[in-house]
Amino acid sequence: MIKLAVPKERHENEFRVSITPDCVSSLKKIGFEVFIEEGAGNGASFSDKDYKNAGAKISKHIKDLYQNAKLIVKIQRPFKSSKINEFNLLEKNSCFLGTIYSSRFKQDFTNLKKEDINTFAMELMPRISRAQSMDVLSSQSNLSGYKAVVDSASLYNKAFPLMMTSAGTIAPAKLLVIGAGVAGLQAIATAKRLGSVVFCFDVRSATQEQVESLGGNFIKVGGEDSGESASGYAKEMSAAYKKKQAVLLEENIKKMDIVITTALIPGKKAPLIITKKMVKSMKSGSVIMDLASEFGGNCELTEHGKTIEFESKKIIGPFNLPSSVSQDASRLYSKNILNFLKNSCKEGKFLDFNWEDELVKGTCVNKVKKGR
Ligand code: NAI
Repeated sequence: MIKLAVPKERHENEFRVSITPDCVSSLKKIGFEVFIEEGAGNGASFSDKDYKNAGAKISKHIKDLYQNAKLIVKIQRPFKSSKINEFNLLEKNSCFLGTIYSSRFKQDFTNLKKEDINTFAMELMPRISRAQSMDVLSSQSNLSGYKAVVDSASLYNKAFPLMMTSAGTIAPAKLLVIGAGVAGLQAIATAKRLGSVVFCFDVRSATQEQVESLGGNFIKVGGEDSGESASGYAKEMSAAYKKKQAVLLEENIKKMDIVITTALIPGKKAPLIITKKMVKSMKSGSVIMDLASEFGGNCELTEHGKTIEFESKKIIGPFNLPSSVSQDASRLYSKNILNFLKNSCKEGKFLDFNWEDELVKGTCVNKVKKGR
């Protein structure tokens, strides 16, 4: 049996856990002995007892957890503080699976390389249909889209649905989603269920049909090509397009009550779409939820990790939304990992990776030279 270790997540505001009890028996079946650090599942409401009942072993101390562990699975990269240094606990030639974001957290990535760790960055999973069940960005973004709407609704001081009461009529909220990727489409579906009237902008023309099938109204900028790169992601648009988009947005944004922005271009700073001038034109009490805040934000006024008030409007730059739905987010992440391990190792030989596989190649950011 190969020792698989699941440490507690120690980064700020991280309540998820990388492996959930429902996956333990499947992992055991394929040859892993699963060890969980004591209390690792608490933030996601999975107790040590749940793990024990599922067949996992509990490690009281982090050092014991890491000892002889051949595979370490985390949500976040290894943690380093004055008290704990997970980089030093990793054994040479072991495997680490998690979200790495090597260009943003360069030092952490360098440390992993220095320690000779085979490192898999799950956020780099290729966007092909075969990989859908292993795609952590999708599983977590979907929940972010849902939570963005729920959190916006709780900060908004009016109701979402149309209500006709004997004391008068409440008009439905108008909600604009910018970016109809995984998070945006879930935001549209959630906002529709809550009874708001939904509008959406995306540079990729292919999203129009998806938006409309969810009952959203697509605001078309027009001109130019499909807006899509060969990898299926959005590409940076021309200055002329951006200008046209800004004019259309200026016209529409003043009618909106809630704006959820999710626009990202991989490897680049998030496009700046909502200017301060546009925020000024919005109605008092409106809410902007900027899901791109981690990557610089789509709104000029966004501050990552903060809720700011500007002329009676709220602008939120949420910090780790999936972690606020930690139970479901952990369950889906854990399934993604299980599916990746099943896909990527040679049959019956776990941790003997199939290095020719597109998904293994795509996610492996450090392969120890001597191989495994
Ligand atoms: P993302 O998080 O990179 O971007 C979010 C959305 O923002 C995208 O729809 C993008 O077109 C849009 N956007 C970018 N710049 C914009 C701008 N200036 N104005 C308005 N909108 C802008 O995207 P996500 O959610 O990761 O998905 C990207 C694509 O990948 C989608 O087509 C999705 O269906 C596809 N996908 C495929 C998967 C698979 O086959 N395994 C898994 C997940 C997604």
